[in-house]
Amino acid sequence: MVMQETCAVILAAGKGTRMKSHKPKVLMEVLFKPMLDWVMASATGAGIEKICVVTGHCAEMVEAHLNGKHQAVLQEKQLGTGHAVMQAREFIEKCGGDVLILNGDAPFMDCETILNAHKHHVNAGNAVTVITADIANPYGYGRILRDRDDYLTAIREEKDASDEEKKIREVNSGAYWFNAKVLLSVLDKLTNENASGEYYLTDAVQIIVSRVLHAGAYKTNNANVVLGANDRIQLAQLNMIARKELLRAAYCNGVDIPCTDGVVIGPDVSIGMDTTILPGTILTGHTAIGEGCVIGPNSHINDTTVGNGTSLNNVWAEKSVVGENCAIGPFVQIRPNSRIGNQVHLGNFVEVKNSSIDEGTKVSHLTYVGDSDVGRFVNFGCGCVTVNYNGKEKNRTVIGDHAFIGCNTNLIAPVEIGEYGYTAAGSTITDNVPDKALSIARARQVNKENWVMQNDLDQK
Ligand code: UD1
Ligand code: CA
Repeated sequence: MVMQETCAVILAAGKGTRMKSHKPKVLMEVLFKPMLDWVMASATGAGIEKICVVTGHCAEMVEAHLNGKHQAVLQEKQLGTGHAVMQAREFIEKCGGDVLILNGDAPFMDCETILNAHKHHVNAGNAVTVITADIANPYGYGRILRDRDDYLTAIREEKDASDEEKKIREVNSGAYWFNAKVLLSVLDKLTNENASGEYYLTDAVQIIVSRVLHAGAYKTNNANVVLGANDRIQLAQLNMIARKELLRAAYCNGVDIPCTDGVVIGPDVSIGMDTTILPGTILTGHTAIGEGCVIGPNSHINDTTVGNGTSLNNVWAEKSVVGENCAIGPFVQIRPNSRIGNQVHLGNFVEVKNSSIDEGTKVSHLTYVGDSDVGRFVNFGCGCVTVNYNGKEKNRTVIGDHAFIGCNTNLIAPVEIGEYGYTAAGSTITDNVPDKALSIARARQVNKENWVMQNDLDQK
């Protein structure tokens, strides 16, 4: 963990014109997680508690996204990365110590690199430590200039670089450790006399070197950490890199993925040993899958916990909990705030919403369970509907243990079915059903003999 007296400033004001989006660039997603969230997670993961996010383009959207989790300062006009840091002056003054600057559009900067760079920063007694890496295609990145003795002298932006400098493959990640006092004194000295007419934070390095203070580079072997996304093509590349890495991590953790076609595993997903993931399966958000499960094919599971031994076949599930040894699917939708107990079976074309279904219950075919509390070992026949909405309000349906809901039953909520209560097929239940009762709520069958006249038949 980083010692106290560290803080971080995340630069997130840029528009990202080349993304061609209504969203600000830092909210563009890599594996369904906004780039800003990746960056914030790395800072907090490195033990940095004080974080200030510089917002600008679509500031309201970014602030709403932060939701009070971290402090934000506004950069009204986006005049460059140096200018962005100037907006956080008060924050930096208050924190003191060492300041980590992070680019909001470089999601792979990880806590390990941040911590190692800080160690290097402290041991070398640097005023600034730039995190760098050698990459195959340095186009667009700031190049790391070194003197004959290999000491860092400056960072040169693509637009300002000579042909000779453009050949340099060591690039600036956009992440730096600064001594807070030095950084504050340098900010006033930045100018916008360059090809972009922007206040570059990268010029801080040159100024620090000119003051005969230590400027160093921490070069990482993990070239991915420097990668940023300025357009959709780069974003797609980041997605591909992250996807491959997370699939690899899943294999290393004992997950069986016989074919990775269409399989996407998000960065905050955990999967237990001996679970099989089948093609077309997307696992996102804070999803946790147990051991020995079969997930897929063609399932999208978001922010959902799944117990051991459960199978989800062609399932869409969101913000819910599914127990152990359940057989769910195919073609099942589990909508938010549902809690499915152990050994539950949900069969084809079943939708569950904001409901709990307890252990051993079977809902096998073509059924809607909404706003309901269903007990243990209940059996639903085919085509049942909890009629939860009267056009104004939602009402709950409560079903006791061992109840038997006949085919094509409508349960008009609010309504309760007692334990071992039965409803006859085709019933529309408007009143509570007592324990152990059979309720029949349908018109009696009437057969009209010879209803079709003989002469009608003769005409055919
Ligand atoms: C920057 C670095 C470059 C480095 C690269 C790594 C500078 C001048 N250049 O270039 O050396 O190799 O990152 O990805 O710093 N931002 C603001 N306010 C602004 C401008 C930018 O908050 O006025 C934010 C952006 O939202 C972004 C980050 O700063 O998150 C970097 O800005 P960007 O314009 O993408 O810089 P690059 O050209 O990529
Ligand atoms: Ca960038």
